Amino acid sequence: MERLRTTGMVIPNDPNTQIAYEFRHIKRPLLMRAFPLNDVACDGGNVIVVTSAVPGEGKTFVAICLALSVAMELERRVLLVDGDMARAETSGYFGAVGELGLTDVLADIRLSPEDVIMGTDVERLLLMPTGSPNPNTTELMNSDSMKALVQELAVENKDGIVLIDAPPLLATSEAAVLTGHAGQVVMVVEAERTPTTVVEEALSQLTSTDNVRLILNKSTHRPRKHGYYSYGYGYGYGYGPGRR
Ligand SMILES: Nc1ncnc2c1ncn2[C@@H]1O[C@H](COP(=O)(O)OP(=O)(O)OP(=O)(O)O)[C@@H](O)[C@H]1O
Ligand SMILES: [Mg+2]
Repeated sequence: MERLRTTGMVIPNDPNTQIAYEFRHIKRPLLMRAFPLNDVACDGGNVIVVTSAVPGEGKTFVAICLALSVAMELERRVLLVDGDMARAETSGYFGAVGELGLTDVLADIRLSPEDVIMGTDVERLLLMPTGSPNPNTTELMNSDSMKALVQELAVENKDGIVLIDAPPLLATSEAAVLTGHAGQVVMVVEAERTPTTVVEEALSQLTSTDNVRLILNKSTHRPRKHGYYSYGYGYGYGYGPGRR
C-alpha cells in the first residue's frame, strides 16, 4: 500500500483522490465493452491488453491503477497478468518476482493457471506474475498454448477482467502478438513526449482489433476549477477505424 501511495497510484479504499476519479472515467467504456448486455462477458472483450509505442510511457502504472479501480468499485474480479517478461514491473510491485507465472504455465504442461495465480492484499485482485526467465518468450507468446490460455482465463473470469501488462509495441515483437489475443487494447501515450508519427506507427501494428483506446498519460495540464479534468493524468478516449 505504501508503494502505491508513494508512486501516486489509485489507493484501495480511497476513492476520492484525483487519480481514482480519472480511472473511474477510464474504466467505464472498457467495462461497457467487456459486458455489453449483461453481467457476463461472452466474446473475449474482458481480456484487455495495456501497451504503448515506446518504453516508459506508463503501461504498468495504468495497468495497476485500472486493476485497482475495477477491483475496488465494481466488485468485479480482476486478474492482472504480467506479460512484460523483460521488465516484470507489475510482478515487482506485488513482490512476486521469482514466483511461478506465465512463462511456467506455458512451458510446462503439468502446470495449470491456478498453480501460478496468486492472491494479493487487495480484495478481488489476483496476479499472474511473469514467471521464470525463459529464452523463448516471443515463441511462447505466439504459441497456440498462449492463445488457449488467454481463452481459458477469459472464460474462467467471465464475470471479471483479465488485464495484461504488455511490453511496448515498437520495441518488441511480443506486444503485437499479445494484442492479437485481446478483445480490447489500451494504448498509453506519454503527453508531450511521444511524437504523433511514433503513435501512428504503433497503432498500425494493431490489426487484430478495432477496440483500441488511447490514454494520454503524464499530462501536466491543470484541472479546471469546478473539479472536471480536461487533460489530467490518464484521460481516456475512444479510438476506432472511423477516426483514423
Ligand atoms: N499518470 C502517472 N502519474 C504519475 N507517475 C506516473 C504516471 N504514469 C507513469 N508514471 C511513472 O512513470 C514511470 C514509468 O511508468 P511505467 O513504469 O508505468 O511505464 P512503462 O510503460 O510500464 O515502462 P516500461 O516500458 O519500462 O515497462 C514510473 O516511475 C511511473 O511511476
Ligand atoms: Mg512496465
